[in-house]
Amino acid sequence: GAAAAGARQLTLALIKPDVAAHPHRVETILRIMRTNGFEVLQRKRLRVPRELAETFYGEHREKFFFPRLTNFITSNDLEALVLARPEAISVWRALLGPTKVHRTRITNPGTLRGLFGLSDTRNVGHGSDSPEAARREIGLFFPELDYDQLWEAAQKPAA
Ligand code: TYD
Ligand code: MG
Repeated sequence: GAAAAGARQLTLALIKPDVAAHPHRVETILRIMRTNGFEVLQRKRLRVPRELAETFYGEHREKFFFPRLTNFITSNDLEALVLARPEAISVWRALLGPTKVHRTRITNPGTLRGLFGLSDTRNVGHGSDSPEAARREIGLFFPELDYDQLWEAAQKPAA
């Protein structure tokens, strides 16, 4: 119904370490988020511990790229954000563009990965791919927060 359509979703966004190393590029991405109707509910800069990286990307543990991915994601500080808007999950992933940068540069050149991606691994950002994943991933990166409280707060538009 109308209420469900208007409900805001939460998603976890990461700006991966190579991009997070450039403050002007982080600001550009924050601007793009806000221009696209996202409210940035939480933002934190951290060096991801290896254990968190391996848990976060646990679904990929058996993939050939897992060591490269976890080495990269732990290599330097990144930016973790909780974003809110209706359809946050699909809209943020659409702004990122498809995972594989070499293809995305051709098929979706205006997306963040199309513009700023360097490789299939160094592909700018992360976005949760389902509401269940968003809850799990926000819990991993923001364990100090109460997810349900955060979700409730997100339903009230910012002043
Ligand atoms: P995946 O969950 O498939 O992509 P997405 O980030 O779009 O949800 O993969 C997680 C990350 O793993 C991806 O962002 C980058 C890395 N990765 C590689 O390094 N090589 C690959 O071939 C794939 C598919 C992913
Ligand atoms: Mg994924």
